[in-house]
Amino acid sequence: MAIYVFAHTKGGVTKTTTAINMAAMRAADGRRPLLSDSDSGQSSARFINARKLADRTPELVDIPFVSLVSYMQDDHSWYQIDQDILKLAKKFDDVLIDAGGEGHGSPEIRMALTIADMVITPCGTSRPDTDRLAPMDAMIRDARVLNPKLKAVLFPTRASTNARSSDVIDFYRDVARFKQYEVLETVVRTRDCYTKWLTTGEAVFEQKKPPKAALTEMAGLYKEIFNGR
Ligand SMILES: Nc1ncnc2c1ncn2[C@@H]1O[C@H](COP(=O)(O)OP(=O)(O)OP(=O)(O)O)[C@@H](O)[C@H]1O
Ligand SMILES: [Mg+2]
Repeated sequence: MAIYVFAHTKGGVTKTTTAINMAAMRAADGRRPLLSDSDSGQSSARFINARKLADRTPELVDIPFVSLVSYMQDDHSWYQIDQDILKLAKKFDDVLIDAGGEGHGSPEIRMALTIADMVITPCGTSRPDTDRLAPMDAMIRDARVLNPKLKAVLFPTRASTNARSSDVIDFYRDVARFKQYEVLETVVRTRDCYTKWLTTGEAVFEQKKPPKAALTEMAGLYKEIFNGR
């Protein structure tokens, strides 16, 4: 069993798109993944609901799902989701946690980092997106005191499809300052097929005619994250 957390303190960087595609591909690969929506925005929950409404069983793979978010308790402490996740994890091959939250303070990201095997951070190629990796890098450093096995990877997403753009090269140069992370080889580019899941409930590979380039990107990411496991 392994725990993967898809996290960034910046919103809209494709955490959910990545988590739901990896969860669906994991299930299609014969594993039993649990997808946990641990972001108060609850986009993964909406993806799961769109799948139910599509009513295309068994065309769409079954993705076991749970929604687990922190909340402030009466004694002003945060409700901890880590013990719930560890308990549930025993029943699954993998747990994929979609976790977001602003700044240094996201309790879901902090808690997930203390129990995860790997944190995966998708990041836009522009400077406002990469600058916000600083709190992630600091949280990973802190989490490793308690959880030394934590692996941390990031990759560029919504990159330009213009062959002449230097955005990915600039991205690699820029993110070298974040010492806690390894940078994956996969580059995910801006494509319409990645926006469909919220309405159709489909992962990219489940779409009618997905672009080959997007399938290649998702397969590359899958291989690098799960690495034969
Ligand atoms: N490669 C891509 N190309 C174009 N659009 C994309 C791509 N990946 C995701 N999107 C779109 O970008 C938006 C943000 O993606 P997503 O919801 O996955 O990000 P997020 O980090 O989970 O955001 P939030 O912080 O709101 O939870 C969505 O509308 C999604 O459909
Ligand atoms: Mg999201």
